[in-house]
Amino acid sequence: MFFSVALSVLLAAVASAQSTTLQLQSIEAQFAAAGLVGNNDLLASFNPSAVLDANFGSGSITPGSPQSVAGVANAPALTLTPANSSVTFSGQYTVAMVDADIVGTNEATTNQTRHWLVNGVSTSGNTVNALAGTNITAYGGPLPAAGSGPHRYVILVYTQPSTFTAPADLPANSPISAFNFANYVQSSGLGSLVAATYFTVEQGTASMSIPATTAVQTNTLPAAQTTGGAASGHPSGTASGSGPKPTQSNGSFIGKSVSWGLAGVALLFATL
Ligand SMILES: *[C@@H]1O[C@H](CO)[C@@H](O)[C@H](O)[C@H]1NC(C)=O
Ligand SMILES: *[C@@H]1O[C@H](CO)[C@@H](O)[C@H](O)[C@H]1NC(C)=O
Ligand SMILES: *[C@@H]1O[C@H](CO)[C@@H](O)[C@H](O)[C@H]1NC(C)=O
Ligand SMILES: *[C@@H]1O[C@H](CO)[C@@H](O)[C@H](O)[C@H]1NC(C)=O
Repeated sequence: MFFSVALSVLLAAVASAQSTTLQLQSIEAQFAAAGLVGNNDLLASFNPSAVLDANFGSGSITPGSPQSVAGVANAPALTLTPANSSVTFSGQYTVAMVDADIVGTNEATTNQTRHWLVNGVSTSGNTVNALAGTNITAYGGPLPAAGSGPHRYVILVYTQPSTFTAPADLPANSPISAFNFANYVQSSGLGSLVAATYFTVEQGTASMSIPATTAVQTNTLPAAQTTGGAASGHPSGTASGSGPKPTQSNGSFIGKSVSWGLAGVALLFATL
């Protein structure tokens, strides 16, 4: 009995670390698949050290999922889950939400609409106190033009070192407007990108064709392979086969695949 409980606790710890690793690999793969990382994309590279959870009041959003204008009208609560125990949160952060427009947008030659930009943000444990920082632009929810396709709204948390200098041309309480996000990050001296997530909002029917993207198969990620091994007695519990089949690669299925993987881990525990 004790052994069984101890084993469960051990496995739970492994599964928790595993699922954070899997979530990090998922979000990295999803950002890449959504055209958010690379030359001329919003981010040159993306190696987060934490998972960013955004909750607009009705639960955590699934990364990459479509949201309604009403659903994301108010600022979300943000929570970080560190990659491992050596990642801790202290000091100041900058939180941003920008509209990276539709997949295929050249972010180097176009500017991004700034929906939220807060400097001097503190953390309390894993909670990001984004409402208590210096509002450069207070949160203003997405309102994409009808027919302009599914816009990608990206929420990002950067470390803000003491050498950070807020650009003079963007004072506190600036309204929502377009700016070049990569230039802002570089010219202000922000530090590393700790964590990020995104969702989409679309109004009406797209009047242009949206470039196809490649599906992220959660079960092919390295961490999922390891989880699959641990749950090998329960093939139905692995992320492969049992989850919904992605027919279109907008990434919204990825959270389901992750939860199917977690369901498999739960199933494993139930049988121990
Ligand atoms: C912890 O996570 C960070 C960020 O992903 C990584 O750089 C570091 O190597 C990890 N440390 C360990 C001990 O796994
Ligand atoms: C993503 O794909 C699903 C399933 O094909 C679809 O229901 C959803 O509307 C799509 N979302 C976006 C943002 O394209
Ligand atoms: C900053 O903006 C948030 C909304 O994003 C708001 O809740 C908060 O009260 C604002 N802070 C100040 C000092 O105005
Ligand atoms: C992009 O925004 C910057 C300010 O961040 C401005 O100087 C520049 O003219 C804008 N470029 C375009 C193409 O609108």
